[in-house]
Amino acid sequence: MNLIKKMLAAHAAVLALWAVSAQAATDDAIAERIKPVGEVCVMGQECKGVGAVAAAAGGGARTPDDIIAKHCGACHTAGVLGAPKIGDKAAWKERADHQGGLDGILAKAITGINAMPPKGTCADCTDDELKATIKKMSGL
Ligand code: HEC
Repeated sequence: MNLIKKMLAAHAAVLALWAVSAQAATDDAIAERIKPVGEVCVMGQECKGVGAVAAAAGGGARTPDDIIAKHCGACHTAGVLGAPKIGDKAAWKERADHQGGLDGILAKAITGINAMPPKGTCADCTDDELKATIKKMSGL
């Protein structure tokens, strides 16, 4: 297979995964909307409402796990097109060592590199969110 074909195939796979995660996001969004308003959180207890409230307030309460589930995991879980795999610390470390550390690979993730799309398709991710997500995926 030539490179173009490979990239097209990867694209199709990503689109398919994206469609699935878009559906999941919609279901989550609906669950979020029909949830009772004004949930009370008690200190010291798990409070699922906090994230929703902060997100509604524009607080950017997405966790790295959310971003991985929606965006990065499509390629980085299985290592599509040579993407470093989640948890393969050695692979990430080698890249970081060659790119000037975590900030170096963050910069590449922002601009995109080869088959890695700019911001890993999370167009509205902030640099800090991307950095936290890379930390989580790499274990660095
Ligand atoms: C369409 C598939 C795809 C998606 C989606 C994707 N990546 Fe990647 N990523 C890649 C590939 C392929 C590489 C390896 C690129 C290369 O070195 O040729 C890569 C490499 C990287 C690197 C290493 C860059 C370097 O300098 O070596 C980082 C960091 C990274 N991805 C972060 C992310 C983050 C964060 C997300 C989600 C927000 C994400 N990626 C989503 C395919 C993807």
